[in-house]
Amino acid sequence: MNGPSADLRSAGRLALTRIAPRDRTPNMPLPAATIDGPSASRDSSAPAIEAQALTRVVSLGDRSLTILEDVSLTVAAGSTQAIVGASGSGKTTLLGLLAGLDRPDRGTVRWFGETVSSLSEDELARRRQGAVGFVFQSFQLLPALTALENVMLPLDLAGVRDARERAAAWLERVGLSARLEHLPKQLSGGEQQRVAIARAFVSNPRIVFADEPTGNLDTDTGAEIVELMFRLNREQGTTLVLVTHDPDLAGRCAAVIRLARGRIVVGAGA
Ligand SMILES: Nc1ncnc2c1ncn2[C@@H]1O[C@H](COP(=O)(O)OP(=O)(O)OP(=O)(O)O)[C@@H](O)[C@H]1O
Ligand SMILES: [Mg+2]
Repeated sequence: MNGPSADLRSAGRLALTRIAPRDRTPNMPLPAATIDGPSASRDSSAPAIEAQALTRVVSLGDRSLTILEDVSLTVAAGSTQAIVGASGSGKTTLLGLLAGLDRPDRGTVRWFGETVSSLSEDELARRRQGAVGFVFQSFQLLPALTALENVMLPLDLAGVRDARERAAAWLERVGLSARLEHLPKQLSGGEQQRVAIARAFVSNPRIVFADEPTGNLDTDTGAEIVELMFRLNREQGTTLVLVTHDPDLAGRCAAVIRLARGRIVVGAGA
């Protein structure tokens, strides 16, 4: 077998298009889908992320609600950034904008010097390939695919030939080489989270966004996941942007911003 069957692949595509945050973004970004995707406009000396004056407004019936306001943020390439704040403060909203899963109503997002927030859906999807991986707040594995197939999927959809070998190598790296053929429901929460992390990293992205990567894990498993992500940051130079409620995890990051009611709280630290 060379990967998920055609049926599973199309089911996977369909299901992945449904992983959009809330009801937006018809053209769902995969966790990074190719390896080392070409991008002529990459500037290796530029920050990984520059967000300027991001504002996000949603409409609720006849009125609009500003859920993120005037948020600016710069993350150096190869650095680690934590986003903290109370539930409902806008962390997931901000992460979605930074990752190009959602679009700001005002403001701009740049990756490595290139403005991505104004690109068309197709162009944005191309930029994301090989550049961005995403670990969702709830793992978002496809239930009908095995652990191996879930990790293979972004590579498979991008036509990468040795998808199976690469995916298996990543599952081994996250300590799951004995679980390749397990379905998500046959895996513990921590194991599913590790599959999600393998899927985010398998394409060797330059930036990984993770939304509460330890939120559903017990302390020991959470610590293992954190070690793994920081090891990948050190070894691969992957820029990490983490949303977390865990002060210890935030404290390990090079920089921390705190949100309150959709705004950055200046000088509040972690
Ligand atoms: N599409 C939407 N429509 C209406 N309200 C929204 C929408 N998206 C987000 N919100 C609201 O915006 C606020 C911020 O949501 P967000 O998910 O970013 O918070 P969060 O900081 O990630 O919270 P948590 O820690 O609970 O995950 C919340 O009050 C949420 O209900
Ligand atoms: Mg959230």
